[in-house]
Amino acid sequence: MNRKSKKNLTVYLSKDKINTRIKEIASQLSNEYFDECPVIIGVLNGSFIFLADLIRSFDFDCEIDFVKASSYVGKESLGQVKLDKDVTIDLNNRRVILVEDIIDSGLTIDYLYEHILSYNPVDITIVTLLSKKNSYKLNFNIDIIGFEIVSDFVVGYGLDLDHKFRNLDSIYSLEPKK
Ligand code: IMP
Ligand code: MG
Repeated sequence: MNRKSKKNLTVYLSKDKINTRIKEIASQLSNEYFDECPVIIGVLNGSFIFLADLIRSFDFDCEIDFVKASSYVGKESLGQVKLDKDVTIDLNNRRVILVEDIIDSGLTIDYLYEHILSYNPVDITIVTLLSKKNSYKLNFNIDIIGFEIVSDFVVGYGLDLDHKFRNLDSIYSLEPKK
């Protein structure tokens, strides 16, 4: 880690705060999925650290798979989502937990929810570590939100800026703390 590049970052959520919240989420999910074996789907790349910590606190069996999506701005649209990697586990008749790092515009989760729904799962629970308040409007609920945030842009704990900072163990904001 290049310490110089960490200079303009301010701790926004400490690793202790994140870990405490993850334990709460894992215990909520353990109550719901006790004695079941849902399919956990992580959204690459950002959710990989959150997912790794979350699943290790589960009290139930699960199977793990990943999807990868990217958004792009087309010529005649504000933003579209492209599926870069799909799941390989058959989701028909399975319970699914979809794990995201952050919901910003809501475009990615909107696309992925519909996509996974097309595989006829029993149900889909959406878990996101972070959610940017008031920035999106969806036709379905986000079941579990780790933290509602107001910061413009955050990095660390899986989240990147130009592919960097994913390895930081806390979440940092790019602007000085107000
Ligand atoms: P969406 O706007 O809800 O579709 O979010 C798309 C993706 O943008 C998220 O899954 C993140 O990977 C990324 N993203 C959005 N806000 C941030 C941020 O503050 N930091 C790092 N990545 C972000
Ligand atoms: Mg993401």
